[in-house]
Amino acid sequence: MMNHSQPKGADYNYTVVRQFALTTVLWGIVGMSVGVLIAAQLIWPQLNFDTPWLTYSRLRPLHTNAVIFAFGTSALFASSYYIVQRTCQTRLFAPRLAAFTFWGWQAIIIAAVITLPLGYTQGKEYAELEWPIDIAIAIVWISYATVFFGTIIKRTTSHIYVANWFFGAFIITVAVLHIVNSMAVPLTLWKSYSLYSGAVDAMVQWWYGHNAVGFLLTAGFLGMMYYFVPKQAGRPIYSYRLSIVHFWALIALYIWAGPHHLHYTALPDWTQSLGMVMSLILFAPSWGGMINGIMTLSGAWHKLRTDPILRFLVVSLSFYGMSTFEGPMMAIKTVNALSHYTDWTIGHVHSGALGWVAMITIGSLYHLIPVLFNHGRMYSTSLINVHFWLATIGTVLYIVSMWISGVMQGLMWRAVNADGTLTYSFVESLEASYPFYFVRFIGGCFFLTGMLIMAYNVIRTVNAPQDSLPALAEAKAV
Ligand code: HEM
Ligand code: HEM
Repeated sequence: MMNHSQPKGADYNYTVVRQFALTTVLWGIVGMSVGVLIAAQLIWPQLNFDTPWLTYSRLRPLHTNAVIFAFGTSALFASSYYIVQRTCQTRLFAPRLAAFTFWGWQAIIIAAVITLPLGYTQGKEYAELEWPIDIAIAIVWISYATVFFGTIIKRTTSHIYVANWFFGAFIITVAVLHIVNSMAVPLTLWKSYSLYSGAVDAMVQWWYGHNAVGFLLTAGFLGMMYYFVPKQAGRPIYSYRLSIVHFWALIALYIWAGPHHLHYTALPDWTQSLGMVMSLILFAPSWGGMINGIMTLSGAWHKLRTDPILRFLVVSLSFYGMSTFEGPMMAIKTVNALSHYTDWTIGHVHSGALGWVAMITIGSLYHLIPVLFNHGRMYSTSLINVHFWLATIGTVLYIVSMWISGVMQGLMWRAVNADGTLTYSFVESLEASYPFYFVRFIGGCFFLTGMLIMAYNVIRTVNAPQDSLPALAEAKAV
């Protein structure tokens, strides 16, 4: 594995890494609080207090934008800036530009927090922000690419560690997706129309949407996985060769899978079938990556008994495996005929989002934060353990309730009587879903409570006097 003996930690640019790491926790709490609120609104609609900017339709995109682009993307900025420096053994290229990416990205998040509740939207899922904010995103993202690739170019090591390949692919692809999908004709400062129309608009949107999943929520976090799992386990990555095969297969396949979001639509049928086949093949590299991560623990399994950080990382890989098995199944047209429009999709999303994205982030941050603030460990390991159980139980409650309610909805909607009329009205299926919405709400509360405990632990760690948090004996060996 990589040798981190030089230059010394103090020589790296950690300022921007620290800023992004701390805002990850903050935005995680904000985004998940909105998630819990909208989960509650689905049970008690009066929680919108008859206020337009608190309605479900406006808060839902606020939730998705906050968790994906504020929480998830801040985590990716922090970890990629950290990992690229450590594995290239050089300081960040263009530190001022790196600082600009931090402040620029925070400004974009604030703009989203203001404009989405006010109802300004382009109406494209995960690309709701209006055109002036889209331009700002493109500028910050190109600056990010400059800092990242500039650092790779000025590296003092001979090879480029595989985590950087994943980050590099994520940065380039997100730039292309965002710029192409956001092409629009502005009408006023806060209203624009997409350059595309009809089926082409839908196809471009889901080419973007699916690859936001594939490159942001997957490739970027795999970069995180390829660094922090070996680090925390104190073992080299199981197979470097597998990681290279994993990388090329994953990026070659993901880009074709978008049409599985548009089954049985006006999209040409062959496109839908192509999307389905590519999604099925995608199962193989996804599991290759998962196995590579989990097998890295060979010889270090005993550490799972004492190290809750490692548990976060391994459980996240298990959820990654689960959601990348489920996804290809849902991409099969006949299965999608049942799952589409139901809570099954929401269950799938959160097994990826909570189980994989949030858990790998949390585990990585618990490793990263003591390093960034010159401590040997976090303030409290038992609080990390409590967080682990809250997050795991919360995720399971969320996804199991959504699976049951999703399959139930799909079956109720397709049930017909002998005379050909529908057995159930839509409202009956909604009524049957309420108990599961309640379980999901409880699961969300568990997950959010874990994040609040994390915030406390982080604050205590950051403010702890130097040398007051020495590494534990087990951790010393890492
Ligand atoms: C406390 C944790 C969370 C709760 C309670 C929660 C709750 C919700 C709810 C109620 C919805 C709307 C479901 C519907 O319309 O039927 C939703 C949608 C969504 N959430 Fe979360 N969420 C949480 C965390 C996250 C995280 C961490 C992520 C991403 C990293 C995420 C990503 C999404 C996405 C992408 C959607 C849209 C799904 C779709 O349109 O199919 N959520 N969430
Ligand atoms: C091999 C990998 C995967 C495949 C083939 C796959 C496939 C699918 C399919 C078929 C759908 C349902 C589309 C629909 O009926 O509308 C879906 C939805 C979704 N998946 Fe996956 N999935 C995979 C992995 C993941 C992972 C790891 C995440 C991560 C967080 C994720 C996030 C999402 C989201 C956010 C949606 C909802 C999109 C929307 O309608 O708003 N997927 N996926």
